[in-house]
Amino acid sequence: MNRTHSSAHSDASGDEGHRRILDALHDHGWSEQDNFLSPELTLSLALECAALAAAGTLALAQISQGAARSLQPNVRGDRIHWLEAGQSEACDSYLAIMETLRIALNRGLFLGLEEYESHFAFYAPGDSYLQHRDQFRHDDSRTVSVVVYLNADWLPEHGGELRLHPEGLGIWDISPVGSRIAVFLSADMLHEVLPATRDRLSLTGWFRRRT
Ligand code: OGA
Ligand code: MN
Repeated sequence: MNRTHSSAHSDASGDEGHRRILDALHDHGWSEQDNFLSPELTLSLALECAALAAAGTLALAQISQGAARSLQPNVRGDRIHWLEAGQSEACDSYLAIMETLRIALNRGLFLGLEEYESHFAFYAPGDSYLQHRDQFRHDDSRTVSVVVYLNADWLPEHGGELRLHPEGLGIWDISPVGSRIAVFLSADMLHEVLPATRDRLSLTGWFRRRT
């Protein structure tokens, strides 16, 4: 697979960036764009995530929903903290940026997205998340998955790729480089997180539709 739909232009959260995200999502079912957030905002969010981790306030993430909900660190090793409006200036800036993306997705792709939910995710070295899809079995409200990476100076040898398995197209790896955004359709895209050799920080979220 060539990488024609990835791009390294700046300001991927502006109109031009939105257009590239929508085009790739429409044509391929996923999109990868660099420089989605400013370096300053990425740094503020990274420091906030690291501080939450250091304070021990991140909770081991669960899988499934309802009665099937469970902790299975061998399946999913990240620790998370759900974002709430007003928790910090940086988080509010981030949520405002995602709101403009929600509106662009609705205008361009008629997705009827109504809400955005997001959490910080912290993977310690060696942690991973085995192959899965993001929609729950009994709840198909999650429609578009978004991951924004917060890692300064990430090198290929650090690992930690988001590995997509687009149907019939092999694999596609996205390295968790700071300010990069990965977007994909929650129902369709099988994906996994490969282990890294250093802490791996991100904001992971879902645009939801009313069901
Ligand atoms: C998830 C997930 C991908 C990533 O949290 O469901 O697949 O790259 N995250 O962190
Ligand atoms: Mn996922």
